[in-house]
Amino acid sequence: MWRWPGARRALPNRGPRELAAKPRSSRGDSVVIQRKLEVTYVPFDRTTRVPPGTTLFSAAHWIGLPIDSTCGGRGTCGKCKVRVIKGIADAETADHRQLRPQEIADGWRLSCQAHIHEDMTCEVPQLLRVPKAATMGLGRLVILDPNVRKVYFELKEPSLEDQRSDLARLKDALTEEGHDMVAGVSVLRTLPQVFREANFRVTAVLAGERLVAVEAGDTTEQCYGVAFDVGTTTLVGTLMNLRTGMAASVTSTLNGQAPFGADVISRISHGMNGPEAIHELQLAVISTMNSVLAELYRDAGISPMQTYEAVVVGNVTMLHLLLGVDPSPLSMMPFTPAFMDELTVDAGELGLHIHPHGYVQTLPALGAYVGADIVAGVLATGVLREDKLRVFVDVGTNGEIVLGSAERALATAAPAGPAFEGSQIKCGMRATVGAIEGVQLGDRVELQIIGGDVPAEGICGSGLVDAVAQLLLAGLMDHSGRLKLPGDVPDHPLADRLIDIDGMRAFLLADGVFLTQRDIRELQFAKGSIATGIKVLMDILGVTAGDLDEVLLGGSFGSYLNPESAKVIGLVPPVDVDRIIAVGNSAGEGAKIALLSYRERQVAFELPSRIEYVELSGRTDFNGIVDELREKLHRLRPDYSKLVVVYGDCGTRGKLEPLLDEVARTQSLGRSSSPTGWSATSTAPCSRAWGSTATQN
Ligand code: FES
Repeated sequence: MWRWPGARRALPNRGPRELAAKPRSSRGDSVVIQRKLEVTYVPFDRTTRVPPGTTLFSAAHWIGLPIDSTCGGRGTCGKCKVRVIKGIADAETADHRQLRPQEIADGWRLSCQAHIHEDMTCEVPQLLRVPKAATMGLGRLVILDPNVRKVYFELKEPSLEDQRSDLARLKDALTEEGHDMVAGVSVLRTLPQVFREANFRVTAVLAGERLVAVEAGDTTEQCYGVAFDVGTTTLVGTLMNLRTGMAASVTSTLNGQAPFGADVISRISHGMNGPEAIHELQLAVISTMNSVLAELYRDAGISPMQTYEAVVVGNVTMLHLLLGVDPSPLSMMPFTPAFMDELTVDAGELGLHIHPHGYVQTLPALGAYVGADIVAGVLATGVLREDKLRVFVDVGTNGEIVLGSAERALATAAPAGPAFEGSQIKCGMRATVGAIEGVQLGDRVELQIIGGDVPAEGICGSGLVDAVAQLLLAGLMDHSGRLKLPGDVPDHPLADRLIDIDGMRAFLLADGVFLTQRDIRELQFAKGSIATGIKVLMDILGVTAGDLDEVLLGGSFGSYLNPESAKVIGLVPPVDVDRIIAVGNSAGEGAKIALLSYRERQVAFELPSRIEYVELSGRTDFNGIVDELREKLHRLRPDYSKLVVVYGDCGTRGKLEPLLDEVARTQSLGRSSSPTGWSATSTAPCSRAWGSTATQN
């Protein structure tokens, strides 16, 4: 569990959520700088530097020294003891329970309970003999330590001399192995029959301390969990073998809520029709998850009864709807969700087809529009574990941004609108067969089309970014984002592709597929908003693009985005292209990590207390950006109203409404649209963000 500097003395008995009450800053004036502390482990002579509050147990695991444990760091097995040679670690209740008084006097402590608050050295008597680990996320080695554990027992059969109850018999055996256990009545009901049919040779299945099942015989090899990334559009499920850390099967499908609208606002709007509508949305997503599960089980050849836990991540709206909670407050000021905490729910209660006594675990959110999917992404990329300064951006309808390092981290959501998903783009489409996903302009147009040798039907987000970047590089568009006329570039081999569509400048990409001037403006707006969000966070942290070690692009869109193009259009800060890294489905990776490692899950639970959430709408510097939007809106045609919805997503509705009224007034006075400048519309925020050369790189 993470604690903040000084927390040991000031908050000796606080639980995780209370610790999470670290002041959050919306203006960046609450500076929390953590000095890293040095810990050395002997006899291995391994040293690491960790944030204050890390346990000796976790710090050791992070550098590949898996201290022995059977309870996973819960303080109940006593196997993780170390001797503190230098530094102080107070003896906690669990130390007194598990260690002898003389051991405590000699400096022995349970490493899972000993928090680091100064430089320390400790002696480790025992490592796990065969530590199992899996490489996850951004090449991270995750030591297998799942919340779900199976323990096989050959219990002593009852006799007149030993009339302990079945439950007491099991509990005693578990205690001997260092496990605490709590059993619900539904599992209790199964004990008499299973025990006797199996001649008291049984396997106990624990999720944390909760007894999920007792199975006949030794079933320890069959232990599975499922990680779900519930996206607004797509749902990905991965069945994980919790013994090996390997994926047994993986599948994805469209979220069954799609008929209720493509984006979160439409889903929330449907939910506003009342409890039945919310239930309808809940059933839709659960039935999608169950169809994914059926496929996963079929592919892996296992049964739902062998799958004991599901870790689910998603944006805040998706998790509300999954749990049948009204998300409507998310759509109106002041945008407060019903919950942002991690929740554990009975799978049976949700109707999810895993073991009926299994559990569903969600991860916490950072803000109304920075959800558990981003927390999972931060976990997978390890942004808060290293000294490297990194910005993690999940590009979508909202650009969710996390900037920082182990020292300090900030997060925000910048509204981008649907351009990156191909909406509001004349020939836009989702990234499916027939979509142009890559563009190269030289003497001719070279297109990369999803599906290979098929005719182009439209253009998806990554193709859009590529096309605009290439138009700029090919000299067919100026730095303001304005498409040139054929007469401006008469000798250019692609001059004849500069066409006019209904009085608007456009560039012909393929038969029937073109990019209009207006599409370019949409992209400018979308990327300008995200670039501005990044810039705001960089300003708060007091860093510049030159300080960034890496730019991580998350989400399915980020995976397909050409880093060079992202840089050319100014979507990301101007860093070397090899420092712009697509991290794939980081949300799904984070969910898998939380499934495979109880310790990593605890880290995820603590992330909201370690990341400062920045609300853009409350910031004076973002108001400056709104001023620039004022200019943009003056130039837009009168369908600006969609911007209200888009900005409403992130809490700026109150600021934009008067602005829109003003635009409506000025437009009705006949103020005409004027050609826009790349820097004055969306890169105005951007040019300010990255410097005047940003769009020229
Ligand atoms: S890991 Fe079991 S007591 Fe510390």
